[in-house]
Amino acid sequence: MTHNPNIEQLIIRGQKKLHGKVFVSGSKNASLPIIAATMLAKTPSRLHNIPRLSDTTAMLEALNSLDCNICIHEDQSVSINPASYCGKGLSKSIAKKLRGSFLLLGPLLAHYQKADIPLPGGCNIGARPVDVHLKGLEKMGACIELHGGVVHASCQGRLQGTDLELEVPSVTGTENLIMAASLADGITRIHNAAREPEINNLCNFINLMGGKIQGAGESTIEIEGVDSLDGKTFNIIYDRLEAGTYMIATAITQGEIHIKNIHPDHLTCVIKKLKEVGAEITVDNSGLHMIMNKKPKAVSISTEAHPGFPTDLQAQWLALNCIAEGSASIQENIFESRFTHATQLQKMGARIQIEGNRVLTQGSDQLIGTDIIASDIRASAGLVLGALAAKGQTSISNLHHVDRGYVHLEENFSNLGADITRKKETLKEVNTS
Ligand code: EPU
Repeated sequence: MTHNPNIEQLIIRGQKKLHGKVFVSGSKNASLPIIAATMLAKTPSRLHNIPRLSDTTAMLEALNSLDCNICIHEDQSVSINPASYCGKGLSKSIAKKLRGSFLLLGPLLAHYQKADIPLPGGCNIGARPVDVHLKGLEKMGACIELHGGVVHASCQGRLQGTDLELEVPSVTGTENLIMAASLADGITRIHNAAREPEINNLCNFINLMGGKIQGAGESTIEIEGVDSLDGKTFNIIYDRLEAGTYMIATAITQGEIHIKNIHPDHLTCVIKKLKEVGAEITVDNSGLHMIMNKKPKAVSISTEAHPGFPTDLQAQWLALNCIAEGSASIQENIFESRFTHATQLQKMGARIQIEGNRVLTQGSDQLIGTDIIASDIRASAGLVLGALAAKGQTSISNLHHVDRGYVHLEENFSNLGADITRKKETLKEVNTS
């Protein structure tokens, strides 16, 4: 007998205007390093606003597999007690589930002078090397060896603060090095550091635990190592990428949306571009209000490190440009193979020309619902948006990608008026003997 897994599909009947309020979740990409940073302390931390996603669950499983005690409270906050950490390495089976697992390297090495962490998995959107992480740790005095896909890092005594010049402003690279430097001897300066808002959230957490970090959000971050850190209670920021996805979905369906729990300053570039598309956006104490009461105008973008246009909203923007008026281009500057969604949108009738890391759209295409396949977290969001704009029914498979990055995606879109359901089909077991 072979075992057939449950096959889930999102079934979307498009062309419904979105209208109403939506609450976004805590940020996945802030949660992952902050969960890792709890390992810098000896005492427990309690984290509020961690989104219930398969990626955050996998990250907590990673800590649990290292014998840390994890408790999920009734209010959904998560306590992590690192005191019982066993000193063993992370298993490959857990590491391959998410790239965020590699964020354990910096804190474990700095706190326990030894860490064995497999090279990470995660979305298949490019080569995704980790040289920035490893070169930085080596410059701080770590001995790094790679055997059988596992990074074995160790140091004699504490890591040593130093000046680090990153070749690229890697987000998780910057985070790993900040965590390592927090318990190093002396001062570390990270030049060409990533400036994403998730880095600020991590630094605020470490500073609350007793760390001494200055300059988060700027391209040079200064970290004065301290002797020890104490676990604390902390709130994760709201997810700018989830909020941005709902905003682009509103533009694509010519709807109206109110997002209460949003940090608009994390989305400055996206808000500016959406205004060029034709959206009216206002921000006040009650949150962000957006109305799109005309056909969207296609707008060209280039993805850049923060504060530029985020690569994690590129797929959603492509869906928008396909149906918008006029031609436009999208230049992907962060990852080298992040256009798998383009071929799926082509299956829906979009006229997209793919030229290496650039795509061109003609605009005003009528997308037609069909069967399409999600290939990574953000590609899946782009396809959902294409389906919301399309005529007829679209079915999207490979939903584990959606579940890695979006909490209650279909419930949220459904509450906004979309016709979207998740179809769970259990296949009968097939007797192959
Ligand atoms: N890079 C290197 N060397 C390194 C690290 C990165 O050359 O050692 C290159 C990469 O190949 C890539 C660029 O630098 O071309 C940027 O990669 P980065 O390291 O910044 O990406 P990341 O830290 O692996 C995080 C997010 C991604 C997001 C990117 C870019 C997390 C857990 N992941 O990845 O999020 O796309 O930054 O903003 O924070 C997602 O949420 O769907 C997602 C993929």
